[in-house]
Amino acid sequence: MKTYFLPLLILTCLIQVGYTQNDTGRQCHIFYSQNTDSFEKWMGTQSRIKSSNSEEVYTIPVVVHIIHQGEAIGEGLNLSEERILSQIRVLNEDFRRKEGTRGFNNHPDGGDARIVFQLAQTDPFGKATNGIVRVNMNEREDPPFSGSMIALGAYYSFWDPSQYLNIWTFPGVQDFGLGEARFPISDLPGLEDEPGFSIPGIDSLHGVPVSEIDGVAVNAHHFGESNMDSKYNLGRTGTHEIGHFLGLFHIWGDEGFDGSCDIDDYCEDTPNTPARTSGCPQHSLACDGSPAMIENYMDYTDDECMNIFTNDQIDRMRTVLENSPRRNSLLRSPGLFPPDVVDTEEKYFPALRIYPNPASGQVYIDWQGMESYQAAHLYLFDLSGKMLLSRAFDIFGSEKIMLDLPSVGHQILLLRLVTENAIIEKKIVKL
Ligand code: ARG
Ligand code: ZN
Ligand code: CA
Repeated sequence: MKTYFLPLLILTCLIQVGYTQNDTGRQCHIFYSQNTDSFEKWMGTQSRIKSSNSEEVYTIPVVVHIIHQGEAIGEGLNLSEERILSQIRVLNEDFRRKEGTRGFNNHPDGGDARIVFQLAQTDPFGKATNGIVRVNMNEREDPPFSGSMIALGAYYSFWDPSQYLNIWTFPGVQDFGLGEARFPISDLPGLEDEPGFSIPGIDSLHGVPVSEIDGVAVNAHHFGESNMDSKYNLGRTGTHEIGHFLGLFHIWGDEGFDGSCDIDDYCEDTPNTPARTSGCPQHSLACDGSPAMIENYMDYTDDECMNIFTNDQIDRMRTVLENSPRRNSLLRSPGLFPPDVVDTEEKYFPALRIYPNPASGQVYIDWQGMESYQAAHLYLFDLSGKMLLSRAFDIFGSEKIMLDLPSVGHQILLLRLVTENAIIEKKIVKL
């Protein structure tokens, strides 16, 4: 970016999204993931940028965290269930280009993303849920940091981002700072080396390392459909932010707002424009003289004129979903299904042991003779239900794993092991 545009950029950010310090200068509201090492390793030398293009419809489990200020449910920014469901409906209309809805288009470059959003049915504790968490911020201590809507949202409530798309609605100012998203880790062009997310003095929130904070935040005023007097009242902020979450840039390119036609969004079928478009202008032109695609969800136009993701954008999003850590795993999340009942240990784990117990520094978990391979997820809670640790591993044969206990002082901890067919709980006395 050219330095003389910096003041303009900061000003634009203030107006558009409520500026935060984490901005990398590339855009106002997107917080980049830590390093891409694991993904690069996984991808090897392949430079895969095309999705498998299958017709398969992918379903993403969603948890909506309503961060409110003590209003009754359905009042003010403690949004009603109906309002939350309207956002989920809009996402599904838009991502599926559903006929007979605002999300339909018959543009030659438009497509059906074949991505569906569903409120989670099982929570990270293995319990039944409606996928909605309400937190009264006035009942909690203020966070020991200030930051983006995403960082603050994650402070109040945050579920395992490898299993759920976390969406926070945050009490904001109407028409100011509509939303924020975190980009995926991916080797797609433009996403290869995303700088990390950090919060000074904080290592983890709800058992998730800060570098893995992930999800999207939407200013509560603009979440879902409403009859509020605003150009952003039809739920398209959610659609836009999830576009970012799945690897899309703004269609004018994301290197700032410097009026250049050189910068692109890595999609050939979104005509490049020198800058963002706002309102719903009828005769706006792209750099090549063709009509600007002002109806694209990744522009800055009003909710009512948006109705298109292009085939290249769709390919990008599906590639991310098929390959990217914390995206791909969403498609196999237990959150997509109702919970299994908590079952007896003996039935599934003939010999599961946790020792020593009581323990001070670490415990071992071992099992013997597991005949079939099982993906397992382990959680550690304190008795108030706060998650202290979350870890995924595989169980097979006879083995043991070591677990470092958090330094929480003398108390009883609850260890919960969730596998494909069982949920097992054990108490650990922490010395
Ligand atoms: N300014 C926000 C962003 O860049 C959201 C824009 C959403 N636009 C809308 N019409 N709702 O992420
Ligand atoms: Zn955006
Ligand atoms: Ca383009």
